[in-house]
Amino acid sequence: MSGDAVSAKDTPLLEARDISASYGHVQALKPTSMHISEGELVTILGPNGAGKTTLMRALTRLTVRKGAVFFRGEDVSGLSTHKLAQRGIVMVQEGRGLFPLMSVRENLVIGGYLHAGESDKQMESVFELFPRLRERLGQIAGSLSGGEQQMLAIGRALMAKPKLLMLDEPSLGLAPRVASEILGTLSELNRRGIGILLVEQKAPLALKLAQRVYVISLGTIVAELKTDEIKSHHDLARYYLH
Ligand SMILES: Nc1ncnc2c1ncn2[C@@H]1O[C@H](COP(=O)(O)OP(=O)(O)OP(=O)(O)O)[C@@H](O)[C@H]1O
Ligand SMILES: [Mg+2]
Repeated sequence: MSGDAVSAKDTPLLEARDISASYGHVQALKPTSMHISEGELVTILGPNGAGKTTLMRALTRLTVRKGAVFFRGEDVSGLSTHKLAQRGIVMVQEGRGLFPLMSVRENLVIGGYLHAGESDKQMESVFELFPRLRERLGQIAGSLSGGEQQMLAIGRALMAKPKLLMLDEPSLGLAPRVASEILGTLSELNRRGIGILLVEQKAPLALKLAQRVYVISLGTIVAELKTDEIKSHHDLARYYLH
């Protein structure tokens, strides 16, 4: 029993074992194993069509998949997307998925439905991170700028009090300065103890934030590297060739 404390500490926040996913006859994700430790910010890099989005969707069961997923050592393989969100596993999908005709406030409230009694408190912590959302509370989401929409998408996910936040290309289509600002907030969230799994095309930015990187190519993880071990981006570039 004395080993329990050690094993609990070493238990990953999330661990996937041999998860795979297919679209019809095409296996977009081959059996893949990966993990995210407590307090880690991990990035997934890889070329277009490599399977990055599919991996995240498989982890959150937005896509039918095979294999096993453990959250803090507990087998959550059979849980639905909704039940996984209740455990604290939340994904911000590419394209943001906001309700464009609803106000900023309404979008945030919907994000907080799992903890409805704490909506106001959660909203305050979102405004600490993104003060601009407070100023735009009554504005409809569809009329926000691209950067503000991404802030709202992240803010809405935070309303669900995630322990693990997955983000699929949060900087897509944003000007470099806005992209840096958005990605910088992920570091802040990580400092607050939220585990982060980030798919990002802007590799140099992602590598600055992340402690570890998985490189994915043709539906499978081809490399796992600690970012402080990457000497130059040439080390990574060779994985992009296929
Ligand atoms: N709904 C779908 N139906 C059929 N094939 C799909 C579907 N979604 C993805 N695919 C295919 O699965 C493969 C992996 O796609 P995925 O979206 O996971 O890649 P990605 O790494 O996220 O790419 P990108 O960088 O362009 O976002 C691709 O070959 C893609 O065409
Ligand atoms: Mg994608």
